[in-house]
Amino acid sequence: MLTTAIIGVGNIGGPLARHLVGGGESVVLAAKDQSRAEALADELGPLARAASVEDAITGAEAVVFAVWLDTIKELIAKDASLLDGKVVVDPSNPLGFDGNGQMIRTLPEGQSSGSVVAAMLPSGAHYAKAFGTLVADQLASGANREPRAVLFYATDDDTAGTTVERLIRAAGFEPLKVGGVADAVRIEVPGGDLHGALRDLDEARAAVAGAEVSA
Ligand SMILES: NC(=O)c1ccc[n+]([C@@H]2O[C@H](COP(=O)([O-])OP(=O)(O)OC[C@H]3O[C@@H](n4cnc5c(N)ncnc54)[C@H](OP(=O)(O)O)[C@@H]3O)[C@@H](O)[C@H]2O)c1
Repeated sequence: MLTTAIIGVGNIGGPLARHLVGGGESVVLAAKDQSRAEALADELGPLARAASVEDAITGAEAVVFAVWLDTIKELIAKDASLLDGKVVVDPSNPLGFDGNGQMIRTLPEGQSSGSVVAAMLPSGAHYAKAFGTLVADQLASGANREPRAVLFYATDDDTAGTTVERLIRAAGFEPLKVGGVADAVRIEVPGGDLHGALRDLDEARAAVAGAEVSA
């Protein structure tokens, strides 16, 4: 059975793991504090298990980095060779905290975290930007609606696109590609015009085309 590694079990990784297991996908969970990954895996049952970051990546065909951008950069630098041949899914935004604990943009205006992460990967990795296009509460509560809510993704890679579409559907959403990595900036925050709204497929297609009708 195909397995997806979810690195990080916080606001994004936790609900994502829950949705994927609910959709019949097998997941392997890792966190900084492994006991948090173990607790969630125990709760989710036989389709979930916990592992170290390195073992989780090794045992999976797809890896979702549900951690902050700076942590993704650290983990890719450390584990690049393990990512060769894997589908790498990145929900990150170019956000961090300043010395006063205020959230700040960490990349120059117009530069996406997707472009930074994609450029760090080994050439055999299959990169997609996905699962970060809603805020965490929307991701947690928006699955399995009728009609289904859209999760946007961006990739230059057909293998990544096929896997991400499967995972988005399993998680209870409708996939819609916005374009290649160059378009990732549209689904990131701050600034992305497609970030942070629950839309059905028709609404999402109109928004991608720039023809969104405001209520
Ligand atoms: N929150 C949102 O609304 C939202 C929306 C869209 C996109 N995103 C993006 O999604 C990503 C995750 O955000 P989040 O809100 O889920 O963050 P979060 O709640 O702070 O969770 C971060 C997770 O990363 C884990 N982690 C930290 N360092 C690690 C390491 N070295 N190795 C393995 N795991 C590590 C933490 O482990 P522990 O559990 O052990 O602390 C935690 O589970 C970010 O890039 C963010 O920009 C967030």
